[in-house]
Amino acid sequence: MRTIDVNIPGREYKIHIESGLLKDCAPILEPIVKGRKAAVITDTNVEPLYYAALEAQLTAAGANTFKVVVEAGENSKSISVFGRVCNEILENDFSRTDCVIALGGGVVGDLAGFAASAVLRGVTLVQVPTTLLSQVDSSVGGKTAVNLPVGKNLVGTFYQPSAVIIDMDTLKTLPEREVACGMAEIIKYAAIRDKKMGEALLSGGYDLADVVARCCEIKAEIVVNDERDTGERMLLNFGHTVGHAVENYYGYGTLSHGAAVAIGMCIMTEYAEKMGYTKAGTLDTIKALNKKYGLPTDCEHRAELASAALHDKKRKGDSLSIVLVHEMGEGYYMKVHKSVLNDIVKGGRA
Ligand code: NAD
Ligand code: GLY
Repeated sequence: MRTIDVNIPGREYKIHIESGLLKDCAPILEPIVKGRKAAVITDTNVEPLYYAALEAQLTAAGANTFKVVVEAGENSKSISVFGRVCNEILENDFSRTDCVIALGGGVVGDLAGFAASAVLRGVTLVQVPTTLLSQVDSSVGGKTAVNLPVGKNLVGTFYQPSAVIIDMDTLKTLPEREVACGMAEIIKYAAIRDKKMGEALLSGGYDLADVVARCCEIKAEIVVNDERDTGERMLLNFGHTVGHAVENYYGYGTLSHGAAVAIGMCIMTEYAEKMGYTKAGTLDTIKALNKKYGLPTDCEHRAELASAALHDKKRKGDSLSIVLVHEMGEGYYMKVHKSVLNDIVKGGRA
C-alpha cells in the first residue's frame, strides 16, 4: 500500500493507494465511521460497478450506510442537484457526527464535498475517487464546487476530507477518453514538478500506482503550502488558462477537458519558448507526451480563438496569472496584462 500524508495543520489526512482497496478498506474506514451513518454519494455509472463493494466495507467498519445517486455527468454539478443531495442526506436522520462518502469521479467528488461542507454546517468527508483525474487531482486538496449559468466552479468551499481511498482497479472499467483526461493532468504534474516522471511516462517504464502516488504527493506539497490558492497552487493551472479558452471556443463537450488542457500546455509552451521563457526542446517533450497518451497537441482557428479568449466577458480585470515552465519539472507563474493571452494563443509575438 502506498500512503501519502497531507499535512495541513489541524486537518491532516492520508491518501491510501492500492489495487483492490475498495474490497479491503474497512480498517481505514473504521476509525472514521464506526457507529455512525455513512451517506455514499455516487453517480448512475459508478453505483452499479462499485457501491456494493464499498457498502460491504462500511458495514464491516460498523457504519449504517445509505446511498444518494445522481445522474452521471457535469450537469449534476448544479445548485438544484446539490439541494437534492443535501435534502436526501438529511431525510435519513443524519446528524453532525455522521459522514459523507464521495464514490466516483470529480463531479461526484466536488458535489459531495460541497454537500459535506454545508450539511449541518459541515460533516466528515471521505473521498473514494474512481477516475484517473479524480485520483491524481480533484479528490486531494479540498476544493469543492458546483457550477452556475454564469460559469463553472463558481460556488464552493475549501473543505478537506478525512481520508482519500484510491483503488487502482477501478480504472479497469474507465472509458479510454476518461483515462486520457487523467493522463493530461499527470503530464501537467511532470511538467511543473517532476522531470524524471516525464521521462518515465515517455519511455513507458513505470507502474501507474507509483505515478498516481507521485502526483498525489506533488499536489499535497503544493496544497499544504497554499491551501487557499493565492500563490503556488496556481501552478496546478498549467495548460488550464488556454485550455479553458479552447473549451469555451469549441463548446464544452466537443473536446474533453483533458484534450483542452493538453492543447493549452502546448500553446503556452510554444509561446514561452518563442519568448525565451522556456528552455528550447520543452515543447517537443510535451507534444511527445501528449501524442503517446492519445492527446492532441494543437487546434485549428487559433486567430479566432485568441480574439474570443481576449474578449471573454467572464475575465475580470486587466491582468491574469499565467503558468509556464522553465524546463520540464520546473513550473512557475507570472502576472501579465490580459492582452498577452492574444499573443500566446496566436502563437507568440509575430
Ligand atoms: P466525472 O466525474 O464526470 O467522471 C467521468 C465519467 O466517468 C462519468 O461518466 C462517470 O460516471 C464515469 N466513471 C467514473 N468512474 C468510473 C469508473 N471507474 N468506471 C467507469 N466509469 C466511471 O469526471 P472527472 O473527469 O472525474 O472529473 C471532472 C470534474 O472534476 C469537473 O467537474 C472538474 O471541474 C472537477 N475538478 C475538480 C478539481 C478539484 O480540485 N476539486 C480538480 C480538477 C477537476
Ligand atoms: N485542480 C486545481 C486545484 O486543486 O487547485
